[in-house]
Amino acid sequence: MLLTGKTALITGTASGIGAATAQLFAQHGAKVFAVDVNDQDGERVVTEIRAASGEAWFFKADVGRMDQVEAMVEASLQKYGRLDIVVSNAAKYAVGTPTEISEADWDRTLAVCLKATWMIGRSTLPRMVAQGGGVFVITGSVHAIRGYALHSAYQASKGGLLALTRAFAADYAPTVRVNTILPGAVVTGLWAGIGERERQRIAQRCPLKRNGRPEDVAQVALFLASDMSSYMTGSAVVVDGGLSSVIQMDETH
Ligand SMILES: NC(=O)c1ccc[n+]([C@@H]2O[C@H](COP(=O)([O-])OP(=O)(O)OC[C@H]3O[C@@H](n4cnc5c(N)ncnc54)[C@H](O)[C@@H]3O)[C@@H](O)[C@H]2O)c1
Repeated sequence: MLLTGKTALITGTASGIGAATAQLFAQHGAKVFAVDVNDQDGERVVTEIRAASGEAWFFKADVGRMDQVEAMVEASLQKYGRLDIVVSNAAKYAVGTPTEISEADWDRTLAVCLKATWMIGRSTLPRMVAQGGGVFVITGSVHAIRGYALHSAYQASKGGLLALTRAFAADYAPTVRVNTILPGAVVTGLWAGIGERERQRIAQRCPLKRNGRPEDVAQVALFLASDMSSYMTGSAVVVDGGLSSVIQMDETH
């Protein structure tokens, strides 16, 4: 029970890494304020947490919009009274070559995958300082540190998040710790369009010879959210089964 009595605002909880993180944090005693645009699955995850004797509340918001981010943060404070942990995790993005994606695709990807974290930070970090402490965790990606075809808007967002992690950490130290996780290939809702054969191919490129599970990332989020990481801020933790650590010698990206 690493988070007893803590409150945790987590975005993107209807699926994948966010859902696993919400479930794990609740198991560790946190009161989870769970946010997503997908209210049907978001409510389902919260119902599952409560069925397992956890505490959670769902709030529907689009994290790409300032008014909804501010409403989300106000609602979380009204519900649980404080903000001990924030996990900025939600993402959705356009795929294609730089000429295939439109300006609107670029703007929307950057809004949801990068600007959202800045908006969430500006609404929550000063409050954490005022209350005397807090932890901010960002779900980045190995896309921040390695190139990959067809993902320019997403990669620019994730690269920006890596820099934003350090900027937030500098601005809000020593009261608030800010760290980011760089997951590799994790089977989640984002993989809906990837067939089984391609999944296997990706797994074989990974030194640990399997794709990640949402729980693999949630465990690191728990570490970063808890006092176990009390001497870490401005850090990026790679959770990718070694994928980004090896030189690939085949013809693929
Ligand atoms: N799956 C991977 O291989 C992988 C790898 C590296 C990083 N990541 C990162 O992990 C994080 C979680 O993604 P996932 O893989 O669990 O995907 P997912 O699709 O399973 O979950 C993402 C969630 O974010 C929600 N969401 C999307 N747009 C939103 C918005 N505007 N406002 C609020 N909620 C919104 C979705 O409804 C969904 O529930 C993302 O930041 C993603 O970039 C994933």
